[in-house]
Amino acid sequence: MTDETHPQDEITRDGRRGSKYLYDRWMEAQGVPIHRGYFIEDLKTVEVGPWAERECNAAFIQVSGMEGVTEARITEIAPGATVPPLKFALDELIYTISGWGIATVWTEGVPKHSFEFGPRSLFLIPRGSHRQFANARGDQTLRLLHNNYLPVAMSLEPDPGFYFNNAYPHPELLQPKDDELYAVAKRAPAMGRGATWYGNFFTDMGAWDDLVPHRQRGGGGHVVDVSFPHSQMGGHMSVFPPGTYKKGHRHGPGRVIVIPAGEGYSIMWPEGGEKIIAPWHEGSMFTPPDRWFHQHFNVSVEPARYLALAPLPQFSGWSEQVEDRARDQIEYPDEEPWIREKFEEELGKRGLESLMPEDVYKDRAYKWGYSAGEEQGAVLGAQGSAP
Ligand SMILES: [Fe+2]
Repeated sequence: MTDETHPQDEITRDGRRGSKYLYDRWMEAQGVPIHRGYFIEDLKTVEVGPWAERECNAAFIQVSGMEGVTEARITEIAPGATVPPLKFALDELIYTISGWGIATVWTEGVPKHSFEFGPRSLFLIPRGSHRQFANARGDQTLRLLHNNYLPVAMSLEPDPGFYFNNAYPHPELLQPKDDELYAVAKRAPAMGRGATWYGNFFTDMGAWDDLVPHRQRGGGGHVVDVSFPHSQMGGHMSVFPPGTYKKGHRHGPGRVIVIPAGEGYSIMWPEGGEKIIAPWHEGSMFTPPDRWFHQHFNVSVEPARYLALAPLPQFSGWSEQVEDRARDQIEYPDEEPWIREKFEEELGKRGLESLMPEDVYKDRAYKWGYSAGEEQGAVLGAQGSAP
């Protein structure tokens, strides 16, 4: 049958910016708000609209850097309401923007399993599972942020019936041997940076404090890597002190970055191009576009946190490898003076001063000081020992 609305030649084949992907057709056909641009300052208040089929309010987020790669979608559930169950064929991460809820997960041959979650909870619903969400409170709405790789999948099979309520089950993913489904994640043997937590459920990313020093990116920051069972989705959360900022760096597309705590801004720019400033606080979201440099700044009196969901390994860009630093990370002495001036100006507006050591601007090999206990903790983590 000929599709006259979308002639074959409109299909994106070359990945140019502004071109449409097969996922975009599906997204645009749902009739709910779609938010584009470079950042969402507040997921708690951004406009949502009724999605009759799903019996909720919803919105799609497609900021620059997500196109063709990542889905981010808001579900808003009214006080006391329960939305109809849905089976989805792909792994999906859920981050709670606001409110308290109950999730029920099951698949063919596996009984229903329910668990509660609250603000800033992060959990994975495995591919092939039915899921149903309920608002646990009668006095406020529940807002969820869903993150998955449906745009990539739809470039290969655009039929929604392949993904929603199809018959294929994955019972093994909901029958863990140790009966710890949706128990709080556990520390895993370290991979890479020394603090990896493994599991389906992270209670509150705004309070998560099992972190290790993250030396490579500067700012005296700490990090935790997040790993989900049987999934190539994952992420990490960086926490960095007030009055500091991270090194500029770049990598691949599709990372959904949400802010669980703190106040600051991020600067994003293509090499040699115009700079975009994304202000943020708890509930903000942005995605650094593919291969754009980006840099995160804390202008508050509290530690700031950013949680980066995913990417799939094929979108990593591998810029975080040490040998690529010269190309993909800007050391403080090499950054444009404007970067530091802007930071000190923003702090000044708030009656604050930079806590960046003067030496970081002179010494590319500057070693940020961490406490002796943390140094030891990092070593323990690197060896995979329990904290
Ligand atoms: Fe990054």
